[in-house]
Amino acid sequence: MLTTFRDSEISLNPIRDAGIAVVGFGRQGKAHALNLRDSGLDVTVALREGSPRRREAEDEGLTVVSLPQAADCAHLLSIMLPDRVQAEVFERDLSPHLGRVHTILFAGGYSVHFGGLEPPDGLDVVLVAPMGPGYQVREFYLAGGGVPAKVAVHQDVSGEALPRALAYAKAVGCSRAGCLLTTFAQEVELDLFSEQVVLCGGIPQLIILAYRTLVEAGYPAELAYIETVREVKLITDLIYECGIAGMRERISDTALVGGAGAGARLIDEGVRERMGEILDEIREGSSVEEFGEEFDFKRANLEGDIPEGMEEARRVVEGLYWKDM
Ligand SMILES: NC(=O)c1ccc[n+]([C@@H]2O[C@H](COP(=O)([O-])OP(=O)(O)OC[C@H]3O[C@@H](n4cnc5c(N)ncnc54)[C@H](OP(=O)(O)O)[C@@H]3O)[C@@H](O)[C@H]2O)c1
Repeated sequence: MLTTFRDSEISLNPIRDAGIAVVGFGRQGKAHALNLRDSGLDVTVALREGSPRRREAEDEGLTVVSLPQAADCAHLLSIMLPDRVQAEVFERDLSPHLGRVHTILFAGGYSVHFGGLEPPDGLDVVLVAPMGPGYQVREFYLAGGGVPAKVAVHQDVSGEALPRALAYAKAVGCSRAGCLLTTFAQEVELDLFSEQVVLCGGIPQLIILAYRTLVEAGYPAELAYIETVREVKLITDLIYECGIAGMRERISDTALVGGAGAGARLIDEGVRERMGEILDEIREGSSVEEFGEEFDFKRANLEGDIPEGMEEARRVVEGLYWKDM
């Protein structure tokens, strides 16, 4: 059974008097720093020399320090750097200077679970991973709400690690929506699996192949685009609102019966087996080795898989609809 925490069950006290340094002022870092400050906490921002974001942070009234200075002075270090650089930056710029730090906090479990970041034994190590992009973390907070977060404890030296993580989640606004207790391993493995199999792997691949099939069979690109790309939103909105069963109650009989037959033919047991293989690779850590040297190569390779004419069809289709629809 999943353990959850509501805002009313959480106190800010475990970090009320702590100096908090948010390392990085990007998508998550900016939102966290501003929300923590607006929740009345003592926040500084740590940036590398020459950061183009220094001015932006200072314009918000935040004090900016170097990474070693932050490690030297803060009690809680919030590591809001891209996952791929965290281990290297931590080792070089933060770890040798950990003066008063009692807690290291991450917004994703990747670098501790897979990325080779080894936090020192004597510190609490926790995770507060908002389930939404940084701009929503800020916008929802300002509107009185929040983005829900996954919360986890990797090391609990003080006996206070979870209350500290929850207090941070409260200050960022996440507990207004809900905090779900998980582990670093679950956070990364589930995140990678859903990205690879469903969200960024399976769905785009299905769309690309369906679009290509229609265009190669002679259908107009714009109509193929509407049917295989634009209409995905209608169905995913329905699934989001009502679940798979609720979506099925709301679609036509032809869509229901035809979809059930074709869906099972297309996405069969073989696909499920390969999903299992991908999950095994994620758990073993072999799938994330690609974040090394091969990363840029694979990234560049992706540009070639969008069918010719698809972007043009998108532009034409976008022009056909009123924006306030
Ligand atoms: N993006 C999301 O929506 C999202 C959602 C949930 C969780 N997360 C997690 O949040 C964490 C932060 O991700 P993010 O997307 O917010 O990161 P991001 O926007 O890419 O972070 C940018 C910041 O990191 C700094 N930075 C980059 N490389 C650096 C280096 N080598 N040395 C020092 N500073 C460096 C940049 O410095 P400069 O200012 O000098 O360029 C900038 O301030 C990750 O653990 C991620 O998994 C992200």
